[in-house]
Amino acid sequence: MTNSVSGQAEPYVYRHPTQVAGLTWKNPVGTASGTFKLDACGDFYDVAQLGAISTKGVSPVPWEGNPSPRTAESPSGMVNAVGLQNPGVDEYLVNELPRLKALGAFVITNVAGHCDDDYAQVVAQLADSPADMLEINISCPNVTHGGMSVGTDPKALYQLIARLRNMTSKPIIVKLTPNVTDITQVARAAVDGGADALSLINTLVGMRIDIRTGRPIIANVTGGVSGPAIRPIALACVWKVRQALPDIALIGIGGIDSAQAALEFLYAGANAVEVGAAALVDPVAPVRIARELDTLLDQRPELAQRLEKGQTWQH
Ligand SMILES: Cc1cc2nc3c(=O)[nH]c(=O)nc-3n(C[C@H](O)[C@H](O)[C@H](O)COP(=O)(O)O)c2cc1C
Repeated sequence: MTNSVSGQAEPYVYRHPTQVAGLTWKNPVGTASGTFKLDACGDFYDVAQLGAISTKGVSPVPWEGNPSPRTAESPSGMVNAVGLQNPGVDEYLVNELPRLKALGAFVITNVAGHCDDDYAQVVAQLADSPADMLEINISCPNVTHGGMSVGTDPKALYQLIARLRNMTSKPIIVKLTPNVTDITQVARAAVDGGADALSLINTLVGMRIDIRTGRPIIANVTGGVSGPAIRPIALACVWKVRQALPDIALIGIGGIDSAQAALEFLYAGANAVEVGAAALVDPVAPVRIARELDTLLDQRPELAQRLEKGQTWQH
C-alpha cells in the first residue's frame, strides 16, 4: 500500500502497538484464519504492515476440504463450508511459513485437527518453527469425543489444551466457537488448560436454500456464517468473556469491516482484532482498517496506553 500523503511505497509507521500474551503486535489488527492467502494478498500490500497474520488451519496431512459449492452470500455476510482445505503441516513448514517470515510478517499458525492426536502432531511439528503464536481451532467435529466438537465440551477442551501446553513454549491462542450455550464456560476451560489468549468468535452454523430448486446452496448443506451480520453476537461474546476472565488476552473476531467496528471490540475488552470476510470483499481491508484505527487511537490516548501495556478497556 502506498503512503497516502506522498504517493510513495514507504512503510507506514504505526503509532499504537498492542500486546497479546506478552508479545507485541505493531498494531491491533490481524487477518482471520482462512481469509488470508499469501499468493493473493501479498500482491496488494506489504504483509509486515499488519499486526498479525493468522494462517489457514494447518492439519497433519493435506486435506481437500468439502465438495463445491462451498460458499454462499447471505444478508450482510456469507456462509462457508470450505472445510479446512490445506496442504498439510510438512508443506506449510517448507513453503508458506518461511515465506511469511522472510517478508517480516508476525505469524499466527492456525492449527486444525479431527481429533486430539491430530492437534498434538501439528503442535509438535511447529514447536521449533518460526511461528510467533499458535491458534488452536477447536471448532471442528472431533471424532475422539463421539463426534461432539471439542470446542463445545469444557472437559474435553481442558484436556486437549493441557496436553498441547506441555508440548510447546509458544503462546497458545484458543479460538472459541459461539455455537455453545455459555461461551464463558469453554473460555474458562481453555484458560485452565493453559491457554495464553483466546480468539473469538469462529463462524455460527447457518445455511442458504436455492428457491429455484428447493435445495441447499452449499453442498455440505450447512456452513459457517461470517461477516457484519455476526458482529453484535461476536461483541457480546467478547464482552461476556472479558467480564468472566479479566486478565486473559482476547482477540476479537466477527464482522469487522471498518476501524469503527474494530474499535467497538477494543472497547468491549479485546486486546486486538482479526479481520475475516471483509478481506474477501476487499483484500486491502485489513491494512486500511489498521491505518484508520491508528488515527482513531490518536484521539483515545487512555485506550491506546492500556493496549500498549497489555491491558484492556476498563468498565
Ligand atoms: C472462507 C473462510 C474460511 C475460514 N477458515 C478458517 C480456518 O481455517 N480456521 C479458523 O479458525 N477459522 C476459519 N474461518 C473463520 C474466520 O477466521 C473468522 O473466525 C470468521 O469468519 C468470523 O470473522 P468474520 O466475520 O470477520 O469473517 C474461516 C472463515 C471463512 C469466511
